This record gives sequence, C-alpha cells and structure tokens, in this order.
Amino acid sequence: MATVEQQIKEAEGIEANPLVEGLERLPVHPTTLVIFGATGDLAHRKLLPAIYNLAHEGALPERFNLIGVSRSDLSDEDFQQQARESIAEFSRRTPDDTVLDSLVGRMRYVSGSFDDASMYDRLRKATEEFDREAEMAFNRLFYLSTAPSFFPVIAEALGEHGLAHHDEADVRLVVEKPFGTDLDSALELNRRILSVFDENQVFRIDHYLGKETVQNMLVLRFANMIFEPLWNRSYVDNVQITAAEDIGIGSRAGYYDKSGALRDLIQNHLLQLLMILTMESPVSFSANEVRDEKVKVLHAVPPPSVETVPDMAVRAQYAAGATGGQDVPGYLEEEGVPDDSRTETFAAVRLHINNWRWAGVPFYLRHGKRLARKGTEIAVTLKPVPHLAFQQERSVGVEPNQLILAVQPNEGVSLSLVAKIPGARMSVRPVNMEFLYGTSFMSQSPEAYERLILDTMRGDATLFARNDEVEAAWAICDPILEAWQKDTAPLPQYSAGSQGPEEASRLLEPGHRWRAI
Ligand code: BG6
Repeated sequence: MATVEQQIKEAEGIEANPLVEGLERLPVHPTTLVIFGATGDLAHRKLLPAIYNLAHEGALPERFNLIGVSRSDLSDEDFQQQARESIAEFSRRTPDDTVLDSLVGRMRYVSGSFDDASMYDRLRKATEEFDREAEMAFNRLFYLSTAPSFFPVIAEALGEHGLAHHDEADVRLVVEKPFGTDLDSALELNRRILSVFDENQVFRIDHYLGKETVQNMLVLRFANMIFEPLWNRSYVDNVQITAAEDIGIGSRAGYYDKSGALRDLIQNHLLQLLMILTMESPVSFSANEVRDEKVKVLHAVPPPSVETVPDMAVRAQYAAGATGGQDVPGYLEEEGVPDDSRTETFAAVRLHINNWRWAGVPFYLRHGKRLARKGTEIAVTLKPVPHLAFQQERSVGVEPNQLILAVQPNEGVSLSLVAKIPGARMSVRPVNMEFLYGTSFMSQSPEAYERLILDTMRGDATLFARNDEVEAAWAICDPILEAWQKDTAPLPQYSAGSQGPEEASRLLEPGHRWRAI
C-alpha cells in the first residue's frame, strides 16, 4: 500500500522512489532563454527535449520564456509545433500534455539572419515584451547553437544592441562547441566574446561535464578516503581513457571532414576527463576553485614538438567493414566526404603530466568512430604487487588491480581484485567489485544537457570550460594537428567494426596493452 506521500507524488507524476532525486528544485530566477539556431539539429535532438524534461521535473524557474531565433521564416505557432515534435521524438520521458502545453505556450519565435541588425531589434522587443507582461526583469540567457562562424558575430551584435548587460537582471551567454579549431582561433574567439561579455557571463559547453558519471568522478575521488593514497605515480601504472563509438559520421561530413577525431573529441571531452581524473582537490566546489585546479593539469602536460608527434600520437581512418551485423562503407565512401580526404576518424595520444603526483605515468587517450562498440571508460591500472607468493599453477590471468570508471553505457565503477578460487589449492583469479548506477539508484540519469542548461540558469559555471582551459587544451593539440598536416605518408586504415588500427600499439610503453573495446 502506497503512503499518502507516495500517492501524492504519483499523482504529480514524480516517481515514488526514495533513491530518485532528479534535478533539485532549487529556486531559479525567472529567465528568458534565447536559442540562436533554434531550428537546428542540436536544438531539435537535445536542447528542446532537455528543457521539456526540466519542466517535467519542476526544475525550470516558475516563470520561464523561450525565444527561438533562426533564419527560417516561421510563425510562433510553427515553431511551437516544431518544438512539440522534437520533444515527442527525443524526450527521455513521454511528454505530459499539461506540462508540454504550458511550456510551449511560452515559446516565441524571431526570424532573421544572425548578421542582420533588424533581427536584434525584433529580439529586443520580444524580450522586453515578456518583461512588460510580467512587470519584472527576466534574466536573459543567450544560447549559441549555430555554426561556429556565427559565435563572435552574435556576441558582438548582442553588445551593439545593448543586449549583453542589463541593470536589473543577469545576462549570460552559452557557447556550444567547437570552441575554435586551433589555439589562434580560440584566442581570437575568446577575445571577441570577452570584448562584449565578462568571463563570468560566459558558459562554454562541454556536454561530457554534464554526464552524471563524469561528475561522480569528483565525488569518487574527493568524498572517499580509499582512493587518494593510491592516486599517484607510486601506485598508478598507467591510465587509459577511451571514447569508442560504433556510429560513423552520419550526415555530418561537412563539419566532420574539417574537424576529425582529435578536434571533435580529444581536445575537449577527453582532456576534460583527464583533468577531472588527475586534478588536485579544490578548496571548495566553486566554479573558479575547481577550474583553477583543472587548468593546472593541462599546464603540466608538455605539448609535443612537431618532430615528436609520431612517438606520441596515431591517427587512422575507417575502411569499409561491418558493425552490428551490417555492412557499412568506409569513411571515403561516406556522402559528402572528398575522395582524397585525410581526416582522421581515429586518434590516440600518449600524454604525461609533469608534476609530483603524476610524473612518469603514461596517460593513453583514444577515440574513434566505427569501432567495435560504443563505450566511454577510464581504466586506472595499478602497479603489480612486488612479489606474488601464491601458486601460479592453475591461477588464471593474475593481473594488477584495475579501477574502471564506465562513463557510458552500463554506467558504474568496477574494481578488479584478485580472489582465491574456492578449493584446496591457493589458486587465484581476478574478480570484480562493482557499483552500477542502474541497480544502486534504480533511475534514469538526467541527460547531460538538462543539468547544464539548469546550471546556466543558476549561473553556476563549475561544469563549463573556462577560457584558459580551452586555450591550454588547444596548446597541446596544435603541434599534433600541425605534424599531421605536414605528413604525406599514407593514412593508416582500420576496418569498420574493429578494435582500431594496429598502429595504435606503437604508443604503448613496454608491458602495456590497449583494453578491448
Ligand atoms: C560530440 C561529437 O561532441 O560528441 C560527436 O561532436 C560525438 O561526434 C559525440 O558523437 C559523442 O557524445 P556522447 O555523449 O554520445 O558520447
């Protein structure tokens, strides 16, 4: 029999599960969210569904308005209808009509080019209209979900039209990836954005930081005593960070062929994982304290020289093969990819962090499309015991302890231990000790974008990349990109659906091997 409280929660559509917290219903200042590129793919698949889920949780501010901006000539009603369709198709929850009607009813649309001054006048009117109706100043959140060439154009136009600051409300700018294509372009983008906005108004998205499993890395490290004594060069032998995908590039050839695996994932998501895994404990979890510690890690990673790149980085491209039992084409056969493209769809690097904690420990990072399966994980391998006194005979595969942080899927943490095989002999074999989100919390985690959008409304920048982090990440990647651009040797290939190119093993130090994907 359900308690009265459970019945009330059920009636309200909130799951009656004591292990489910969901996104906290903290008071958030009334906000008008403006999405530039509101009819684009990201808004369609991620942003609008995430906003719906926040509304469903009751996590949106009580007063919330959304203005979509893009070039398409749509009425408010057309945009509202598109938003309904996006939510119906991509929301992780089946939409509730009442919640959806109320959310969509507060959506407006402004059409125009991002470089057209009159569009910003119309946008200004639309935001002021909401303020007038409510007799208060809403916070303004400008979300740039457009082609990257428009990021500085929009930021500057917002400044020119007096939209970047408000006397009675907070104004914030959210910038999607990619944040530049190399160090120079990132510096230039930061310079142009910061000529209009203050750094504390700017939220650079890296959606990996919105993943529950990534945030849990901080909790695992800094709320448990067990790991810290081991978390250093004396006990850690090597670390592997893998983001494997089984998908190809889909219809994104236009973007992907100019980007490649290093820019698309390693420069941002994987270096973020590296920072969180290896940073010192921040004094507090305030945005700047955390980011101060993170960026120190990247400053301790010596960038390679163009000459040393072949020793520390490998790239490759997928050839035709099979994934999930289906034959799939090679990268060069994908629609929109030039026949002579040398863009890498796989990249692996070996980095070192030259500080007291990590000197000498190799960090292997790899990412590829069209690999055997989708899986993002961090494997921290400890050093072997100095002497194994147990009988080797009949012991199966004794390996050093490994802590695996599974970012996705099968989110969780597992620690491999060596255990005795039951019986009269002292034979041993590896076993796993596991924590799985699915079983411990019995709930679906919020999507990364839900948490991140909420944080932008709260003004909490902890889970966003600061300007110096982005620049330090490019400083590490730039020489690799330069060396690859100069290199004319044939690009290594790997079959779609495989473990990646053989050449990746070149990066490994003696005794190390890549974990199976
Ligand atoms: C994006 C990349 O940033 O991350 C994509 O542009 C990639 O190419 C995606 O597929 C992976 O995200 P996730 O959350 O599926 O690991």
